Amino acid sequence: MTRRPDVAVIGGGVIGLAVAWRCARLGLDVHVYHEEIPGTASAVAPGMLAPVSEADFPDPALLEFAHEARRGWPAFAAELTAASGIDLGYATDGLLLVAHGVEDRARLAAMYGFRDGFDVPCTPLDADGLRAREPLLSAGSSGGGFATEDHHVDAQRVRLALRAAGQALGVRYVDRRVRSLDEVSAGSVLVTAGAWSPSLCDFPVTPVRGQVVLLRDPSGGPGLRHGIRGVVRGEPVYLAGRDGHETIVAATLDHTGFDVRPSAQATDALLRKAVALVPALAGHEVAATRVGLRPDTPDHLPVMGRVPGRPGAYVCTGHYRHGVLLAPVAADLMTGLLVTGDDGIPAAFTPRRFRPAKETASR
Ligand code: GLY
Repeated sequence: MTRRPDVAVIGGGVIGLAVAWRCARLGLDVHVYHEEIPGTASAVAPGMLAPVSEADFPDPALLEFAHEARRGWPAFAAELTAASGIDLGYATDGLLLVAHGVEDRARLAAMYGFRDGFDVPCTPLDADGLRAREPLLSAGSSGGGFATEDHHVDAQRVRLALRAAGQALGVRYVDRRVRSLDEVSAGSVLVTAGAWSPSLCDFPVTPVRGQVVLLRDPSGGPGLRHGIRGVVRGEPVYLAGRDGHETIVAATLDHTGFDVRPSAQATDALLRKAVALVPALAGHEVAATRVGLRPDTPDHLPVMGRVPGRPGAYVCTGHYRHGVLLAPVAADLMTGLLVTGDDGIPAAFTPRRFRPAKETASR
């Protein structure tokens, strides 16, 4: 008979796996329940580690949390690489911010205006300066900047590495979808099931679909030197090189429920923007189209902490576009809460904000 574990983690995305690894390092017996169903966000995430570049809703608590995460990523990546022996594709060569046409400069400036006041250096570049940094950029690129501290990681390799690092410490992975907290017996139960979390604990988390396209250069030619955050005809797009000859084009933001079918319209929109920025991509092969479901909340902030009214149950979800970036700090804080009861989680992320005052007061 299987022993009741100290911790059961429901959901094997980057955050669940990171908490499992952290807890196992402290000597706890950990089980992770996960069924790899289409839409798992971190199976698709492009892996941009850029606190403000995707801060569509720049809440101060979230931005501060994201900056802390960014500062912690180099050490986390080094530690995870050493523990797993897996190269994470962690690139620290900065992000180019590119306005495609002259009319896109205002949109780009608006997107990045709130960088001021944060420790996110960004050097303005004109068209020549951009192409000096990235010769593959189109002649139409009108200006932008270079954000040296915005990094990139291969999120799918991070997942593999977290799994391997946990496995080496005895984490048990159970290939099963858990549909109710009552199905699992453990000292503590943590829900990290992303957009599917509401089926386990009642918080208003909704899926925001993101489609990505993976392109492959058949000639194996040199890839992009830097990640590129572009604005093309007012619409943002993100390009990142992978493994030398692949490029990820990301990502749509669609409110279409749990529909995980890639759409021709999204592929078309992503590729038009990608080719406008980097014309050579037109000759690349479409290697894959993928859809991930980001977990969003009404205030676009994470839900992290104890589940009210359910002793021993915890939740960590709602990281929306930032799950990969926030995974290390989220894992450290959740591990602290689970293991020592130490609640260092920002108050803005409390699960209690979604419960009626009467209900939480009586518990
Ligand atoms: N972090 C990637 C995205 O949400 O588009």
